[in-house]
Amino acid sequence: MPGRAKAYVKSYGCQMNVYDATRMAELLAKRGYDEAADEDEADLVVLNTCHIREKATEKVYSELGRLARLKAERGAEGRDYKIVVAGCVAQAEGEEVLRRQRAVDLVVGPQSYHRLSDLLTRAEAGERVTDTDFAVEDKFRALRRAAAEGKRVRDVAAFVTAQEGCDKFCSFCVVPYTRGAEVSRKASEIVEEAEALAGAGVRELTVIGQNVNAYRGAGEDGALWSLPRLLARLARIEGVTRLRYTTSHPIDMTEELIDAHAALPTLAPFVHLPVQSGSNRILKAMNRRHDASFYLDIVARLRAARPDIALSSDFIVGFPGETDADFEATLALIRQVGFASTFSFKYSPRPGTPGAERDDQIAEEVKSERLAALQALVEEQRQAFNAATVGRTVEILFEKPGRHAGQIAGKSPYMQAVHAMGGEELIGKTLPVTIVAAGSNSLAGRIVGQTTPDDAREAAL
Ligand code: 5AD
Ligand code: SF4
Repeated sequence: MPGRAKAYVKSYGCQMNVYDATRMAELLAKRGYDEAADEDEADLVVLNTCHIREKATEKVYSELGRLARLKAERGAEGRDYKIVVAGCVAQAEGEEVLRRQRAVDLVVGPQSYHRLSDLLTRAEAGERVTDTDFAVEDKFRALRRAAAEGKRVRDVAAFVTAQEGCDKFCSFCVVPYTRGAEVSRKASEIVEEAEALAGAGVRELTVIGQNVNAYRGAGEDGALWSLPRLLARLARIEGVTRLRYTTSHPIDMTEELIDAHAALPTLAPFVHLPVQSGSNRILKAMNRRHDASFYLDIVARLRAARPDIALSSDFIVGFPGETDADFEATLALIRQVGFASTFSFKYSPRPGTPGAERDDQIAEEVKSERLAALQALVEEQRQAFNAATVGRTVEILFEKPGRHAGQIAGKSPYMQAVHAMGGEELIGKTLPVTIVAAGSNSLAGRIVGQTTPDDAREAAL
């Protein structure tokens, strides 16, 4: 008898995609698919794609070319191989994906994948199917059912969606077009899903949304809840020891949310708050709706609320019209804030966005030079931040076995990877750990009360 069919879900891009990929894997498991280790072992592959920059989109088509060859080989052996394209490229390009790559069986957008099982039935009958409807409410309802039926959870940390879509229309960004308008989930659904996750062993919850701090959802008491109100509720769930939220827009960084960092001990002292640029002229051209001093003021207030708070941000270099002076202003803002970690990108013109229409695009070499300069500065800051953790005792949530025997790995409140000596029974526990050394990508620590500091240091690095 042949074994059960296997599926592989490969995800690109943001946390929202990671979340969607997990939900799709759950739906496929319910349909009878076991999890494949990779695309070679699979009978069905889902590419959960990202459209944010041109490079990400092109990667999808080269990956599809590879999968098409795999499918042809399988076909020659008389075996079936299904290729599904999901995520934002599916949403943005729809049937064009089917035209560009004949081997694709199914194209499903981020707001319709809850219908994956029905769509697969049609694909199995030989139809080449596209579903890119915007039906976020339906999707939220379906996710809620899935939560009630119990999740496949193996992780200590998990995402929970509070909000999808974006109304901000930054002039470089495709998200408002691929993910649609801002829609918040009902608080009761989020709480239900969070409780299911906590019950299955999850200890750290990251509340996600393209604009999560714009959250406005119907609360359990009938009132409209803000993100801080929701966080306060989630903090009461038994088993949840750490809360995070991402991604936030500066203009929705309310006083109430800033205060939550002082009031909620479970809320991690770490905020990802993309600023994109430090130049007021470029911020205006990007339609970010705030200037550099507005951002710096938020940082100051966050630090006043929670002195040990660490910040992270996204930057774009080479937005159309960006001069050397504009770029210098970005570097100045970075120097002023001091970031624990960052993501930085060269501007990529996206079809349909206002930025792409401009005739003052920046030369590729200039973008590359600026990106290198910016990355050198933020890397210096990241290393300095990590070095400053050495000697401190921080709460580490242990998530998995470490790379070496007898080691265990976890995360600091500031998203740093930390290794210490310890057994697997510590997975899911949050313990005070004294950081003894900083490597380039992780920290070595000693669990407080442990007696072999030298061993810990040696083994962990
Ligand atoms: N080009 C480069 N970077 C972009 N981002 C969004 N759109 C573009 C684009 N067209 C970056 C922003 C955003 C992050 C998720 O991706 O920095 O915060
Ligand atoms: Fe894109 Fe701006 Fe919306 Fe973020 S806030 S998703 S960058 S349009």
